[in-house]
Amino acid sequence: NGVEERRPPLQSEAPPPPFKQPFVIGVAGGTASGKTTVCNMIISQMRHERVVLVNQDSFYNSLSDEKLQKVHEYNFDHPDAFNTELLLSCMEKLKLGQEVSIPSYDFKSHKSTEAACKVNPSDVIILEGILVLHDPRVRDLMNMKIFVDTDSDIRLARRIQRDTIERGRDIQGVLDQYDRFVKPSFDEFILPSKKFADIIIPRGGDNDVAIDLIVQHIHTKLGQHDLCKIYANLFVITSTFQI
Ligand code: ADP
Ligand code: C5P
Repeated sequence: NGVEERRPPLQSEAPPPPFKQPFVIGVAGGTASGKTTVCNMIISQMRHERVVLVNQDSFYNSLSDEKLQKVHEYNFDHPDAFNTELLLSCMEKLKLGQEVSIPSYDFKSHKSTEAACKVNPSDVIILEGILVLHDPRVRDLMNMKIFVDTDSDIRLARRIQRDTIERGRDIQGVLDQYDRFVKPSFDEFILPSKKFADIIIPRGGDNDVAIDLIVQHIHTKLGQHDLCKIYANLFVITSTFQI
């Protein structure tokens, strides 16, 4: 009959939950110290939270063909080897709860591959890599800073094994690179960043007690986030009923 049927406005739609800034953890340490192992141990104990692991390796600059010709002269352990601006922008977006695309890096071709990885916003963001405690702008994004401290002989032995088996390198090449770049850069850039850590984990993944304490602390901090949310909601309710 031409009369428009009017629907009553929806009154009881729940408001979206208030935005909770993710808890950001940085995990640094020398090559093959057990950083990835420690991160995976933390993640396996975070059953009720959304956790994302961001690897600093993903932000290695791709080598040009010219640099590839002289790859044995390239220092992959220097801060300039990374695209830190891109890492910062990805981390800042994740902190704001936005989805980001993280590049993928291939250790055999020394290049970023086409396939980027989509990362969803999460409750906990773990940023792992040899130099994540080096740049103050990256450190400032973190709520908790961890340094994995493992004996250098053990690290070298693991590195030889890993690089020959997984990264297609020969033993002599691994030893030359270690002597020329990996060890000097560890002494110049990585070890000095240990002083910025809140927690130092001796023996990496062998240290169950340290991992348990870290997970407990994260749960406490996330619980405090939730308490703030409850108090904020209570405040809204009580102020609504004030006459
Ligand atoms: P990082 O991320 O610091 O390079 P990873 O966690 O990837 O170190 O460990 C490097 C290598 O050492 C891997 O092959 C891993 O399996 C091995 N590894 C790590 N932690 C231990 C451990 N506690 N005992 C024995 N092997 C380990
Ligand atoms: O996993 P891990 O922390 O050991 O990775 C960092 C190491 O990877 C650096 O010590 C660097 O020498 C090595 N690397 C390499 N070749 C590349 C990129 C990094 O050997 N193309």
